[in-house]
Parts: sequence; structure tokens; C-alpha cells
Amino acid sequence: MVQAESLTKTYEEKSVVESVSFQVAEGEVFVLLGRSGCGKTTTLKMINRLVEPTSGQVIINGKRTSQQDPIALRRNIGYVIQENGLFPHYTVEENISVVPELLGHDRDEMRSRLPDLLTQVGLSPEKFIGKYPKELSGGEQQRVAIARAIAARPPLLLMDEPFSALDPITRSDVRTNFYRLSKKFGITVIMVTHDVAEAIEIADHICLMEEGRILRQGEGKDFLFGDNNAVVASFFDAARFETELKVVTITDLLSSLTLKDEEGAVAGEIGLDDRLYSVLDKFSRAKILPLNVRGQDGRTHGTTTLSSLLEAFFKLERRRSS
Ligand SMILES: Nc1ncnc2c1ncn2[C@@H]1O[C@H](COP(=O)(O)OP(=O)(O)O)[C@@H](O)[C@H]1O
Ligand SMILES: [Mg+2]
Repeated sequence: MVQAESLTKTYEEKSVVESVSFQVAEGEVFVLLGRSGCGKTTTLKMINRLVEPTSGQVIINGKRTSQQDPIALRRNIGYVIQENGLFPHYTVEENISVVPELLGHDRDEMRSRLPDLLTQVGLSPEKFIGKYPKELSGGEQQRVAIARAIAARPPLLLMDEPFSALDPITRSDVRTNFYRLSKKFGITVIMVTHDVAEAIEIADHICLMEEGRILRQGEGKDFLFGDNNAVVASFFDAARFETELKVVTITDLLSSLTLKDEEGAVAGEIGLDDRLYSVLDKFSRAKILPLNVRGQDGRTHGTTTLSSLLEAFFKLERRRSS
């Protein structure tokens, strides 16, 4: 859907983005990850021509953006900026419905969808629908901006650190709901973040940048368990344990997991697609009792305890670091 080809941006002879190329498939969440100042925002803005590339090009659905009218181009590309960009004199309801109305969506249909949309981003409709941006906290404003972007259902959505002002718990919930809705409506998303754990959690593909260049592209798992150079590894090390728990599934552990045929009490079930993170949560309630591992076909693979699960996880860890 989106191809960036050798994108370069130079300011006063200094390259801030250098020869950046990537492809984003239709319907995927693609994350530009990197430290502050590495050129993420500049790259994002070259996609909707808020910044014109010094060289290189962007092709969207087979058409070069350089040959399209920038205003017309931007009408079909959603954009959520870090500073939320809400209209100060519009209420929450007006802010969310103005873009879809401009795009010709039905007004009444939009109205009827609004309460659900606000709920999805963790805002109570009754409380927030009539408020003005200045009456909201930074995190609440950001959530209205996310709701507004989803409401317009653009084929392509660019987001620049959209969850940065949210507290960790709200952030995780809003992110999960956002991911689900983007998939439901088939929105292709290119998102910028400096947060490794966030990238791992939400990205179908990650493009890691440093000093204007791409260090590596791939799926979250490639960065954690793949063959990485020291620079890439160091980037992920700080949040490694947390992020590994979020990407490793029971399937990943199956080959080194000792499963038993337990006749006695089990405290519940886990699925093969369950992530270790959520399984640990189940064990915190199951305590020392084992849990049943059930496959998609409904077949029971056996039972596992917390200690055999962790043992399998550390085996995977050792394989990575050896
Ligand atoms: N308009 C501009 N003029 C000069 N330098 C700029 C301009 N915009 C961005 N930069 C510089 O380019 C680098 C990358 O910026 P940016 O893309 O905003 O990084 P990020 O979003 O990764 O934090 C920074 O060093 C920034 O100071
Ligand atoms: Mg930025």
C-alpha cells in the first residue's frame, strides 16, 4: 500500500533522514521506532507531504505522492499528531464528527457511533461529549484525537506518538482497542514511537531508526530473538524482559515445555496463542495449581505449572544469548 523509496531530508546540508526505504502492506500496523531526534517525525511527514523530501519518493497504491495535489492527498490520509490538534472552539462531539462529515459520511450514523467510539478510548460519553478541549487533560485530549481519527476511517492513518500523554494502564487499554478497531475497519497505520514495549505490543512490523537511518526492520520477535547486532540488541535490552513476556506465546515454548497428564485439580485453561504475560496473570490466580493447555481444535495438550513454564522460557532466553 505504501512504499517509501530512499527518502532523504536535508536541512542546511545536514541529513536528518537518510535513504530510508520501507514497505507497508495494506491493513498492517507499521511502527517507526527510535530515540528522540532520530528522524521519525520527519519521515512520517514526508508521507503526507507536510515535509517535502530532498530526494526519494513515496508511492501510495501505485501512485507517486509527488504527482498529487498535497491537499487532496492529505484528505485521504488521517493524521494524529503528538499535540493532538483538536479544534479549540469545537466540543468533543463536533471535533470527532467534523472530518467524517467533510468526507461525506452520514451525520446521523456518525452520531450513533460516537458513544461507542468514546467508550473504546476510555472516555465516558455522557461526561465528555459536550466538553471543549481546554476542559480536558492532555491524555483525554489525545484520546479524543484518536477517536476522531478512527471515526473518519481513513484508508491510511499516520500517528505521531499518539499514546504518549496517557498513563500506563489507560495507555495499554486504549492501544489494544485501537489495534482491534484498526483491524476491524482495515485501516493501514504508520505510527511513530520511542517506546520499545509499545512498539512490540502493537506493531505488525517495526522499522528501527537511528540518526536518520534504518538499523533494522522486521517483526517484534526478530528484534528480541533474531540475529541482531550489538546496537540493535542494546536498544531492546532495557525493556527486554517486559517485552519478551508480551510477545512469547505458549506455542513458542511448546518444544521445551514439559506437559503432564494431570488427573487432579486444575485451576483453568490457557490457549496456545496466549502470551506469556497474560498466562502469568492467570497463574497469579491459580497459584500452585496447574493449568490446562488447550489447542485451537479444542484438544488438551496436557497441563503445565508455573515453574515448568518459566523453565521453558529461560531455555528460550539462553538460546538467544548463547
Ligand atoms: N525544519 C527543520 N529544520 C532543521 N532541522 C530540523 C527540522 N525539523 C527537524 N529537524 C531536525 O531533524 C532531526 C530529526 O527530527 P525529528 O524527525 O523531529 O525526530 P524524532 O521525531 O525522531 O524525534 C532533529 O535533529 C531535528 O532537530
Ligand atoms: Mg517526533
